[in-house]
Amino acid sequence: MEYTILGRTGLKVSRLGLGGGGPSQLGQSSGRSEGESAAVIRQALAAGVNFIDTAEAYRTEGLIGQAIRGVPRHEVVLSTKKSTWSDAQRPPITPAQLRASLESSLQRLGTDYVDVYSLHAVEIEQYDYLRAEIVPAMQQLQREGKVRFLGITEAFHSDTQHIMLQRALQDDVWDVIMVGFNLLNQSARERVLAETLRRQIGIQIMFAVRLALSRPERLKEVIAGLIAQGQIQADEMDGDDPLGFVLQGGALSIPDAAYRFCRDEPGTQVILSGTGNPDHLRQNLASIAAPPLSPEVTARLRHLFRNVDSVSGQ
Ligand SMILES: NC(=O)c1ccc[n+]([C@@H]2O[C@H](COP(=O)([O-])OP(=O)(O)OC[C@H]3O[C@@H](n4cnc5c(N)ncnc54)[C@H](OP(=O)(O)O)[C@@H]3O)[C@@H](O)[C@H]2O)c1
Repeated sequence: MEYTILGRTGLKVSRLGLGGGGPSQLGQSSGRSEGESAAVIRQALAAGVNFIDTAEAYRTEGLIGQAIRGVPRHEVVLSTKKSTWSDAQRPPITPAQLRASLESSLQRLGTDYVDVYSLHAVEIEQYDYLRAEIVPAMQQLQREGKVRFLGITEAFHSDTQHIMLQRALQDDVWDVIMVGFNLLNQSARERVLAETLRRQIGIQIMFAVRLALSRPERLKEVIAGLIAQGQIQADEMDGDDPLGFVLQGGALSIPDAAYRFCRDEPGTQVILSGTGNPDHLRQNLASIAAPPLSPEVTARLRHLFRNVDSVSGQ
C-alpha cells in the first residue's frame, strides 16, 4: 500500500480509504450481514488501508467500531461526519446537538477521539450559519481532544460545480475537505484542488466510481445527457462504447481506470472506495497499486470531459 501525508494534518494515510457510506454502505444497502461488512473492513486493514470514513447518517459507525476493536487506535485514521441538512421541518443544528452527536459517534466507534470530524454535505445556503455558530463548537471539541482535525464535505450530487467548497476555502479553518472528483466531472481540478494544494489542505476524494462508472447502462445515460446539454461533443465520443479506449489502453475495467485516474490527479490524497464486496475491494486495492494509466488515455479523458461540471457520476 502506498501512503501519503494528509495535507497539514501531517497524518500518514493510505492512498485507498474505505468509505462507509455511498450506495453500498459497506454492503449494508444490498443486504449483506454485519459480519460480512466487518470482514470487508478487516480485509482492508490487513491490506494496509488505514483510513476509514463514515458518518452519523450512514449507520456504519457501530460496525466499524466492532471491526477495529483490538486494533491499536493509532494505527487507524478515523473520519466521521455530523449531518447538517436543515429544512422547514429540521431547523439548523445547534452546538449542543453537535456535541451530543459526536459523543454518540465516539461511543459507536469505540474510541475517545476521531482524527477528522467533518460537517457533512454542506450546502452553500447553510455555510455562513455553520461557520459562525458551529465551527467554534467544533474547535472547542478539538481543544478537549475529542477531535483532532476539522473537515467539511460537499453535497456533490446537487453541488456539482463545488460552489460551497469554493466559499469554504476562503476561510482558514478546514484542515481536510472531501470533494467529488471523477473522470466524468473533473471540475474540482481548477476550482478546488489548485487551492488545497497551495494551502496544504488534506483531501478525501469521493465519487471516484459511484454508479455511472460501475454500471455500464448508467454510464450510457449519463453520456447521452452530457451530449444533450452540450457539455461533451458527440463527434469526439466513440459511439456505443464511449470509454472503450480506456480498456484498449490497458485498464482492466472502468472502475480500475476510475480509481487510478483519481489517484494520479495532482493534489489528491485519500481516494475513498465505498464497497461491501470483498472481490471489489481486492480489485480496488490492485487498482490503487497499479501503474499510472497511459499518458494517451489520461490526456484523452481530460480532453473529452474538459467542460463537464453538471453531473456527479451518480
Ligand atoms: N457528501 C459526503 O460527505 C459524501 C457523499 C458520498 C460519499 N461519501 C463518502 O465517500 C465514500 C466513497 O463514495 P462512494 O461510496 O460513492 O464510492 P465509490 O467507490 O465511488 O462508489 C461505490 C459504488 O461502486 C461500487 N463499486 C466499488 N468498487 C467496484 C468495483 N471494483 N467494481 C464494480 N463496482 C464497484 C460499489 O458497490 P459494491 O458494494 O457492490 O462494491 C458502490 O455502489 C463513501 O463511502 C462515503 O464514505 C461522502
